[in-house]
Amino acid sequence: MKNLHVNFCGVAFKNPLVLASGVLGVTAPSLSRVIELGAGGITTKSLWREPHPGHPNPTMFGTKEYFMNAVGLSDAGLVKGVQTMKELRERTKEPIIANIVAGNIQDFGAIAEAIAELSPDAIEVNISCPNVESEFGKPFACSRIDAAAVTKLVRANVGDIPIAIKLSPNVESIVDIAKAVVDAGADAITAINTVGPGMRWNIDLRTPILSNRVGGVSGPAIFPIAVKAVYDIHAALPNTPIIATGGVNSGRDALEIMMAGGTLVGVGTAIYYHGDATWKKFTDEMSQWLEKSEFETLSDIIGIFHKA
Ligand SMILES: Cc1cc2nc3c(=O)[nH]c(=O)nc-3n(C[C@H](O)[C@H](O)[C@H](O)COP(=O)(O)O)c2cc1C
Repeated sequence: MKNLHVNFCGVAFKNPLVLASGVLGVTAPSLSRVIELGAGGITTKSLWREPHPGHPNPTMFGTKEYFMNAVGLSDAGLVKGVQTMKELRERTKEPIIANIVAGNIQDFGAIAEAIAELSPDAIEVNISCPNVESEFGKPFACSRIDAAAVTKLVRANVGDIPIAIKLSPNVESIVDIAKAVVDAGADAITAINTVGPGMRWNIDLRTPILSNRVGGVSGPAIFPIAVKAVYDIHAALPNTPIIATGGVNSGRDALEIMMAGGTLVGVGTAIYYHGDATWKKFTDEMSQWLEKSEFETLSDIIGIFHKA
């Protein structure tokens, strides 16, 4: 029986599927449960230095093709975040990726330094949320200079913990941004955050569906955009591991986005469609495919589309 092990920046994952940031679970018990259900690792929701309220309800809207969210990165702040991370470490030995966010470059440095003290297996730096523009302006992921400045400071503050910079698809060239952050010291890229933002309205009430009016689009509808982003980044930076995220909704989708260049695969909105069964369903599909294939390990398939 072949296994689904992959190595990401020197960290061993029992399978490449990781819980995408923010989609499910803010407490240590709810996050560690995802590991028990079969995920290879977990990403925390975005952790802020200070408490951050997020947007008022309604913050989510879903169809069978996509979800739209404007949660607005609500978080209880660093004191609670540290507690959650410590409890999480006690509950699971599987890899924990701590996702951090801030409204300015200095705060990114400070939260990175504080979280690094807890020794997460990796740190994911969220510079790409599209639904907090009313508070913070365009995400840092929209500028090569800003994205590189955040990366440089985080890199300097976290010792040798691997850092993945989470990029936005809502830019002229995601490859240019990826190159800039790798030059500035990123070990890995997470691609992609949500698309848009998008907007929906109730035609009878003439009111927007989300209180924030606009929200980031996720789920199956964005999968082709994610595959293209991962493919392009891998073509430009073949030695940089990618946490390939966006619309993955089956084990076959996970295999496809790995073949485009992903090392790990972020799974988010799929959980709203498949519930607790998500992890076992997807890993079973992947195992069955691998077992019948000519490949011995999943690492052998990473980026093979580039040889096609
Ligand atoms: C409800 C919800 C909350 C999210 N919160 C965060 C967050 O706190 N930090 C972050 O980096 N990404 C956040 N995301 C983006 C996801 O991590 C992921 O990049 C995106 O949804 C695309 O993947 P998916 O289609 O598998 O959901 C959120 C997405 C959703 C749907």
